[in-house]
Amino acid sequence: MSKKSNIDKNNNLICDFTKGSIKHRLMYGGGRSQYLPRAVGMTKGRTPNIVDATAGLGKDSFLLASLGARVTLIERSPIIHGLLYDGMERAMRAGGLTAEVVERMTLIMGDSIELLPNLEPEVVLVDPMHPVRKSSAQVKKEMVLIRQIVGNDCDYVDLLNVALNVAKKRVVLKWPKGANTIENIKLPSHQLSGKTTRYDVFMIS
Ligand SMILES: C[S@@+](CC[C@H](N)C(=O)[O-])C[C@H]1O[C@@H](n2cnc3c(N)ncnc32)[C@H](O)[C@@H]1O
Repeated sequence: MSKKSNIDKNNNLICDFTKGSIKHRLMYGGGRSQYLPRAVGMTKGRTPNIVDATAGLGKDSFLLASLGARVTLIERSPIIHGLLYDGMERAMRAGGLTAEVVERMTLIMGDSIELLPNLEPEVVLVDPMHPVRKSSAQVKKEMVLIRQIVGNDCDYVDLLNVALNVAKKRVVLKWPKGANTIENIKLPSHQLSGKTTRYDVFMIS
């Protein structure tokens, strides 16, 4: 099975939850023991409602929804929002398990800095465009194409501050493993590190 779920044969960005690595992860993924579900606080008996403040092409949200979470996705780029909307529609038309997962996802277009306070979120996931780094393969290609559309998300510290002010339970920042913690933000309560990605978890007391 091709791993290139979000690049079509003409090298265009698409959003497709029905094939490639996304589908593969849905069928054979590691469940709630994966870093992201653990970071957002999904345990055996606990399934928080999550706001994904930086939806992108919805991969993280799809993973969380596949494990039973209700996820509100916010995306401010009209182009990326359009691709994601198409991907969700396609998944609904495909039916089956993929459609069941997407039914738990609600997509909103707008800027999370403005929208988050009205949503009174339990858990907020923040995954802004990461600083440019050397890496290989298709993930990079996908991110290059997304960056050409959305730029560098230079206001991510403002977004984090808003998230930290309004989240009821926790905020999770997805960030490159080797990067410093963010200046002018309190230190995370704990971190979960994968091969290339780190999750900084800020518990709200
Ligand atoms: C790295 S991508 C997110 C990838 C996503 N986690 C996934 O699994 O596909 C970052 C996305 O967040 C969006 N974004 C950044 N800041 C935002 C904000 N304040 N409000 C809404 N969307 C935002 C960008 O437009 C971009 O599409």
